[in-house]
Amino acid sequence: MLITPAAFPDLRLRRMRQAPWLRALVRENRLCAADLILPVFVHDHDAPIPIATLPGVARQPLAGIIATARAAVRAGIPALAVFPVTPPHLKTPDGSEALNPENLVCRTVRALKHAVPEIGVICDVALDPYTSHGHDGLIDAEGQVLNDATVAVLARQAVTLAAAGADIVAPSDMMDGRVGAIRLALDAEGFQGVAILSYAAKYASAFYGPFRDAVGSRGLLSGDKKTYQMDPANADEALREVGQDLAEGADMVMVKPGLPYLDIVRRVKDTFQMPTFVYQVSGEYAALHFAAEAGALDGRAAMLESLLAMKRAGADAILTYAALAAANWLNEDAGTSTKSSSSI
Ligand code: PBG
Repeated sequence: MLITPAAFPDLRLRRMRQAPWLRALVRENRLCAADLILPVFVHDHDAPIPIATLPGVARQPLAGIIATARAAVRAGIPALAVFPVTPPHLKTPDGSEALNPENLVCRTVRALKHAVPEIGVICDVALDPYTSHGHDGLIDAEGQVLNDATVAVLARQAVTLAAAGADIVAPSDMMDGRVGAIRLALDAEGFQGVAILSYAAKYASAFYGPFRDAVGSRGLLSGDKKTYQMDPANADEALREVGQDLAEGADMVMVKPGLPYLDIVRRVKDTFQMPTFVYQVSGEYAALHFAAEAGALDGRAAMLESLLAMKRAGADAILTYAALAAANWLNEDAGTSTKSSSSI
């Protein structure tokens, strides 16, 4: 129960906001580099190619991903999420390149685990980077996304990623029953140690546009993803989705997008007390970036405030394209940047 000992003028809440040191003492939530996960896009070209709708982010060659991983480790970021840009000629209706152990993402994961073993590697399980129609699963003749047939492929995709060295597989497809199938398949192949981060409450959001540009699926996508991703109008249903994925063996759950769905983050955290991640998706990141570029707001302050809001809502970790910049700002603010003295 809240005890209010006094009312104004005896109670003055501003008293505790008078100075930075005092605000620091009563601060309830803190954001740090260890809260952040950096999504990266790998492609099969020699040079980086910027993504116009995702300012400051580029599709990178393997060597660039390794360099980025090293920078992330230096900044204190625990993990990367690796997304492949599949060349168009390798995209097919059944997304079979997803199961190729020599595909771009598998080669990247192997190289990363070899060159930068101290960083965690997270890989999406979904077919959209590989399908010629841009959907996350297999489709029938009418274009309907098939659930159970897709789940069978996703389980094999997860095993392929685990065999390449992925530490965490993250089903982002929203098929029913895929977490259980993936867990079974991983265990059957000896990958008991590979964790599942389920995109459990993933909404059919308008904020994914720049990501689809990055992986080259926007132009391919026929229709939308509303038959599998959640209706933005629903909240109770998110708890059923999360409960189901946890029952099937998810180790961590994710809410996506972030800022427009903080009510969901709070309810998920309060209901399940499980590791709860949030994805600040491409459109959220881009919106802040473009607003800052137009002079509408202070980009650094607005970004850090948005990420802190996710933490306050209950997030244990946040996927954000700003992870590297934010981690460096936070380290700078905390006086732990490489510039400052390390003596005690
Ligand atoms: C693919 C996937 C998407 C994102 C992450 N994994 C796009 C989608 O579902 O269409 C979006 C991430 C972002 O917008 O930053 N299943």
